[in-house]
Amino acid sequence: MNRDLLCENVSVSKDGQHLCFAGMDTTDLARQYGTPLYLMDEDRIRACCRAYLTAVHDAFGDSARVMYASKASSFKRMYEIMREEGMGVDVVSVGELYTAFKAGFPLSNAYFHSNNKTDEDIAFAMEHGIGYFVVDNEEELYAVEREAAARGITQSVLLRITPGIDPHTFEAVSTGKVDSKFGFAIDTGAAEDILQKAMVQPHLSVKGLHCHVGSQVFDSEVFLLTADVMLQFIADMKVRHGFVTELFDIGGGFGVRYLPSDPVLDLHGCMAEIGAFMKQKAAALGIDLPAVAFEPGRSIVADAGMTLYTVGNVKCIPEFINYVSIDGGMTDNVRYALYGAPYTLFQANAMNKPHDMTCTVVGRCCESGDIIQPDVKLPATIERGDLVGVLTTGAYHYSMASNYNRLTRPPIVMLSGGDSYVAVRRETIDDLIALYQK
Ligand code: LLP
Repeated sequence: MNRDLLCENVSVSKDGQHLCFAGMDTTDLARQYGTPLYLMDEDRIRACCRAYLTAVHDAFGDSARVMYASKASSFKRMYEIMREEGMGVDVVSVGELYTAFKAGFPLSNAYFHSNNKTDEDIAFAMEHGIGYFVVDNEEELYAVEREAAARGITQSVLLRITPGIDPHTFEAVSTGKVDSKFGFAIDTGAAEDILQKAMVQPHLSVKGLHCHVGSQVFDSEVFLLTADVMLQFIADMKVRHGFVTELFDIGGGFGVRYLPSDPVLDLHGCMAEIGAFMKQKAAALGIDLPAVAFEPGRSIVADAGMTLYTVGNVKCIPEFINYVSIDGGMTDNVRYALYGAPYTLFQANAMNKPHDMTCTVVGRCCESGDIIQPDVKLPATIERGDLVGVLTTGAYHYSMASNYNRLTRPPIVMLSGGDSYVAVRRETIDDLIALYQK
């Protein structure tokens, strides 16, 4: 059967029956580790990091950085891999920051995001030697200044700027992004205002500017438009305030394949195009191109992950709908419930069978919105005990998992070089009651 399996790390066993991931038979992995089960292909994660680093260095030179947006998938082993691959990271909470710290990640190479960092967060991050705060609002600017002053240090910061680009229509909108909860809009004058305020803070060193316009973007045009607006702002700030932007972080957002109809991103080509555009634009504006940073999350880890489930029951309501219930659900994958996100699914233990029954794959939460995916094709013979594999679940799955209905979260099993190991163990029902004080 000639199927598009989305990514080169997905294949079918020689006898045509079983879904394989990172060269390993998923039915063996399900037997060994149980289900529901998150699998992560460590070799693919490393390959994605290397592809990014090569692409940005080729396009922008040695000063370019790649900061993994660790909200996509945050656990200790992940930060070790990022450290080993020479990546920076972005963290958005002290939880992510502390996990990175515990993994021995050098926090001098980390950015701290979030639109609401508490005084405690700020102190904790400084205590642990965070490299950069990405300042999101005016109150935060002064809070970071106060904490740096109390410690007698100079803290590096970036300012989060809202360039007013809508990634889905590709239009530069003059007002559309003014209502964003993140950052300072250029259009309203807020960005220029905060830059002037930041520049005079005695304990802050404003290294540059940050922006992030969206996610699951395939078209480099979005980044060109963003760069166009941001470089113009950078040039204006140099002329008007003598501010030299050393570092320009253009955010993350590159798309990945959830469906066969999704395009394959030519990362190297995309970066080359963005690099050429930025160099030309900077030259036209008479400024030096700052060091450029990218902040990919999804495109580093999404197709390095998949989820395996066991079928519990199949409920056919003739002329209406067929339900296939699996042993996980919105607790380990909330993305359909939250965003209507699409997925590619297979019966992992019967890849040779025609997937010819239209069905809705649902989880086991007491909620009808607990849907992994509606209207997918699985074999009509699928039954209790069979395995369902969902592809492209490495980003925003484990990191968005919950204990709704007091369900336990799956383990993360890493695959590398034909071996597997547990990076995050399966939660137990005792973990669920461990916090209760009474
Ligand atoms: N930088 C910033 C400041 C961000 O807010 C994000 C994502 C990224 C980088 C990484 O973007 P990526 O390369 O992963 O697209 N939960 C949603 C995605 C939310 C993304 C939020 N910000 C999902 O499951 O699709």
